[in-house]
Amino acid sequence: MTTAVLGLQWGDEGKGKITHLLAKDADMVVRFNGGPNAGHTVIDRGVKFGTHLIPAGAFYPNTTSVLSSGMVIDLKILREEWDMLSQHLGWQPRLLIAENAHIIMPYHRELEELEGSGKHFGTTRRGIAPTYRDKAAKVGIRAGDLLHPDIASQRLKLRLALLNREWPDSQGIQSLDAGVLLEEQLSFAGPLLPFIGDATEAIHQAFDSDLNVMFEGAQGTLLDVDHGSYPFVTSSSTTFAGLGNSIGIPMPRVDRRLGVFKAYMTRVGVGPFPTRVSGELEERLRTIGGEFGVTTGRPRECGWLDLVALRYAIQLNGCTGLAITKLDVLSGFDEISVCRSYRLNGKSIEKFPLAAELLEKCEPEYETVSGWGDPISEVRDSAELPKQVMEFVALIERDVGVPVEIISVGPEPEATMMRK
Ligand code: GDP
Ligand code: IMO
Ligand code: MG
Repeated sequence: MTTAVLGLQWGDEGKGKITHLLAKDADMVVRFNGGPNAGHTVIDRGVKFGTHLIPAGAFYPNTTSVLSSGMVIDLKILREEWDMLSQHLGWQPRLLIAENAHIIMPYHRELEELEGSGKHFGTTRRGIAPTYRDKAAKVGIRAGDLLHPDIASQRLKLRLALLNREWPDSQGIQSLDAGVLLEEQLSFAGPLLPFIGDATEAIHQAFDSDLNVMFEGAQGTLLDVDHGSYPFVTSSSTTFAGLGNSIGIPMPRVDRRLGVFKAYMTRVGVGPFPTRVSGELEERLRTIGGEFGVTTGRPRECGWLDLVALRYAIQLNGCTGLAITKLDVLSGFDEISVCRSYRLNGKSIEKFPLAAELLEKCEPEYETVSGWGDPISEVRDSAELPKQVMEFVALIERDVGVPVEIISVGPEPEATMMRK
């Protein structure tokens, strides 16, 4: 069985928790997109971690964690994460870093600041867009280049020459030196250099040996560079299609496509969010749900579950099953709202509009369902959940046409119910 775990909203759906839980049976866990813009919370043996680059396979001694070619990697952050996990685990996570994954260089962060995109788009300021841009423009530095410092040095000199022409007035850019930059990257990479190799081949070999391979998505479908509300998106493919394309694997090999979504919605950064609520209600969701970014600490905007967006995300990913998280956060509400359609220019629509300008204008059309009074975070058997919870889940299943296989009622791995 090969499983892909995909976020169906604007990120932070609980992918880290779900992947960590399922990865205990995996031989290989592959992160396929994004970089340290991701923040995945994992509670491992009672200790809470926010991981940015290393997939959840790292928490199991015999599982290989692959940072694949769809990713952009900040070596300083990777090294810190690897050191931190090694210390906690008492073993060194088995890593494989794709030689064709791109490296986030210090000037990529600098560029994001110079261009003001952190402020304008509410990015995580981790140099994500400039690195993917350099990849497409064929002026990027790849992990494999570090194994051949002469090649890396040539590429860096070329890139710096272009940067110097583009930013003649930036002291930060003008003072960059290829030799110093390379030395710094090599020293961050240090013990990780032997892990750089052909990840695509390793994944194919794992398939051929019938090993249990899992894919850990980062960000969410609505942040996809092609299918999200552009330009308020990230710079990689966050969907299932992106997985096959960026790694180079035959899509039919991935038979389980598990979409993860929260029982409500959140968004961090800038961009349209039709079901966002305001005032005390948002504060209540944010406080109970602990809705603050793992990577940047920013408060997340909160709102009701949006089934228009969820149906779109499920369609794009061809989800075979769903995991609903944070149902416990809705305990204590008398009524819960669910958006089943939008009103746009006086008409009711059921399809998620592609253009951010249109999404901005959409008004949610809500259905209201009964809430449940009692807390549910201690429930471990879905048969013991209040009937209103199961009615809420059934409403979602009927609307989207895909079964909810996993119900999560708390951040800990134990607070999870498998329904199959
Ligand atoms: P990811 O980026 O998709 O991995 O999600 P994040 O880790 O950024 O955000 C999810 C947050 O919700 C984390 O703080 C998790 O510990 C927490 N979480 C996950 N599942 C549940 C759940 O079912 N209930 C509650 N209360 N918290 C959860
Ligand atoms: P995980 O994997 C939530 C958002 C940023 C910003 C936009 C573009 O934890 O779900 P970027 O730095 O990628 O250029 O920022 O995307 N964003 C995320 N939001 N969770 C994430 O990852 C995110 N990664 C990026 O806030 O709005
Ligand atoms: Mg997150």
